[in-house]
Amino acid sequence: MTVYRIALTGAAGSLAADIIPGLLARGHTIVGIDQRAPRDTFGCEFVSCPVNDRAALLEAMRECDAVIHLAGIPLEADWADILHANIDGTEAVLHTAEQLGIQRVVLASSIHATGYVSVPTDGTLVPDDVRVRPNTFYGVSKAAVEALGSLYHDRFGLDVICLRIASRFAEPTGERTLSTWLSPADAVRLFDACLQTSHPGFRTIWGVSANTRGYLSAEGGAAIGFRAEDDAERFAEAMFTAGDTDPSLLASDWDRAYIGGVFSSSHPPLFTG
Ligand SMILES: NC(=O)c1ccc[n+]([C@@H]2O[C@H](COP(=O)([O-])OP(=O)(O)OC[C@H]3O[C@@H](n4cnc5c(N)ncnc54)[C@H](O)[C@@H]3O)[C@@H](O)[C@H]2O)c1
Repeated sequence: MTVYRIALTGAAGSLAADIIPGLLARGHTIVGIDQRAPRDTFGCEFVSCPVNDRAALLEAMRECDAVIHLAGIPLEADWADILHANIDGTEAVLHTAEQLGIQRVVLASSIHATGYVSVPTDGTLVPDDVRVRPNTFYGVSKAAVEALGSLYHDRFGLDVICLRIASRFAEPTGERTLSTWLSPADAVRLFDACLQTSHPGFRTIWGVSANTRGYLSAEGGAAIGFRAEDDAERFAEAMFTAGDTDPSLLASDWDRAYIGGVFSSSHPPLFTG
């Protein structure tokens, strides 16, 4: 088991709060980077700066030997904001990693990079490298995140794993997420597997738990040693108590048609945070 000194961007965010304690417990050291203050640093060194501040980023990432890049706008928003935070921000992180000789980079992509892919109806699974079909400006930015990762791998030889994270919540939030849920504990296992695997090159991998109703392939995760242990199905019965089901929990037509669910509609929910 290799332990890393990880530059973890987006350290004040909710995914970071899910994975930092688990990564620390596995022996890694973390330098948290975010433009806003975290509620909890979990005892980690923390650097306050936007990832777009390349000089500050260079200092923050010095001495690190891996990067987990989570910083960004996590849902649909104005194009200019998305461009700045998600695309320019990711280029800054990759450029800094290359400058500092940091070989291992894990990038937070999203199911919305491929949101217009149809939900399989024949029992097949959507492969980890299904072609990009973004359903939002946000999804376009994640496709660009993947393209940047691919470029930095091919041009500079960095190992870059892009996690196409599906629905990461403490618990599934409705019928769609019974298929797409990524549990916090599986998220820790997945990010650590990205660090432990040897010479991954460039890959896209689904970030999803072992859900009974799942339709996203587990092959890409298995290839880097990730085995999900959680299954959203254990929440299904409580979600659909006979005669007492909240209609807002039921899958919409969008959820049944496209893997990006309602975000594939012409009025996707906007990021308000
Ligand atoms: N939560 C999910 O289910 C999910 C699903 C798919 C992908 N993702 C991706 O995972 C990452 C983390 O998501 P999250 O749910 O924790 O979101 P979040 O909004 O809770 O956290 C994102 C963090 O990034 C920071 N940030 C934004 N722009 C920044 C910038 N320019 N410089 C520095 N910091 C900046 C914010 O301050 C925030 O703390 C995001 O890239 C998101 O797109 C999350």
